Amino acid sequence: MANRLKIVRTVPSLRRALEPYRRGRGRVALVPTMGALHRGHMALVREARRRAKCVVVSVFVNPTQFAPHEDFTSYPRSFATDLKVLREAQVDVVWAPSVEAMYPNGFATRLVPEGPAKVGLEDEFRPHFFGGVATVVAKLFTQVSPDFALFGQKDYQQLRVVTQMAKDLDLPVKVIGVPTVRESDGLALSSRNAYLSAGERAVAPMLYRVLKGCAVRIKNGEKLDHVLNVGRIEIDVAGFVLDYLEARHAVTLAPVSSPKDGPIRLLVAARLGKTRLIDNVAV
Ligand code: PAJ
Repeated sequence: MANRLKIVRTVPSLRRALEPYRRGRGRVALVPTMGALHRGHMALVREARRRAKCVVVSVFVNPTQFAPHEDFTSYPRSFATDLKVLREAQVDVVWAPSVEAMYPNGFATRLVPEGPAKVGLEDEFRPHFFGGVATVVAKLFTQVSPDFALFGQKDYQQLRVVTQMAKDLDLPVKVIGVPTVRESDGLALSSRNAYLSAGERAVAPMLYRVLKGCAVRIKNGEKLDHVLNVGRIEIDVAGFVLDYLEARHAVTLAPVSSPKDGPIRLLVAARLGKTRLIDNVAV
């Protein structure tokens, strides 16, 4: 049935909206987002639609994962457009709490994830980030109690952190990673791409090109350290300020020195002007 989208803003109304599905034992899938939706988010929604009778999309710009100097207030917000695309995608429930509903006065609990959250990648450059993500995602999981939760491989370390958190807390949810959706020139879709100037936008796809090039050369047997050093120089020459380009174990995110150490993921973060871009590929 078209147009059944329910927009809920408080935990009790969320519970009421989900009750019919629980009674009918229908599967529930959750897609956590911060809004400003693009085709990357919608790939998660499609995968959720395929798996569950009830699709819940949360739209919440989570203040606890932003540092004071980061872009919480200026983060792109487009709720009316988001609702339109979610309705067209036959989403059942949009969970859009206010900051006060999510973190009422006196809120005093914060998760401190370790393991994949402490490997010297995003955590080194955004030390507050995964604590905020783990806390809000744990809340979303208990609020919605989904059977499935869909996350993008685009934010690969986040996917690993959330998967580990759900396992460690015995949350009965299956966390599923969805492949990264890209522009035709290879740039990974991201809400923050909106910050890029025309000149920066022309350079941005280089990040993926370098990642792919490195992956091919590692597969062809070239030495990991050498490949990464060349990749770092290529990123620098293209005009980025590099935060990291690393080869890690695809599951633990621990450092690896050769393909013998296990499945490899290449992960990169680099800044173009004021915009910080991240990306990753499998080897
Ligand atoms: P946000 O950046 O809005 O991303 C929501 C989800 O969409 C994440 O799982 C992210 O990995 C996925 N996504 C973003 N760009 C993608 C792309 N190009 N292809 C595939 N998936 C993509 O990530 C967050 O929000 C927040 O940290 C959140 C998990 C909601 C917690 O606040």
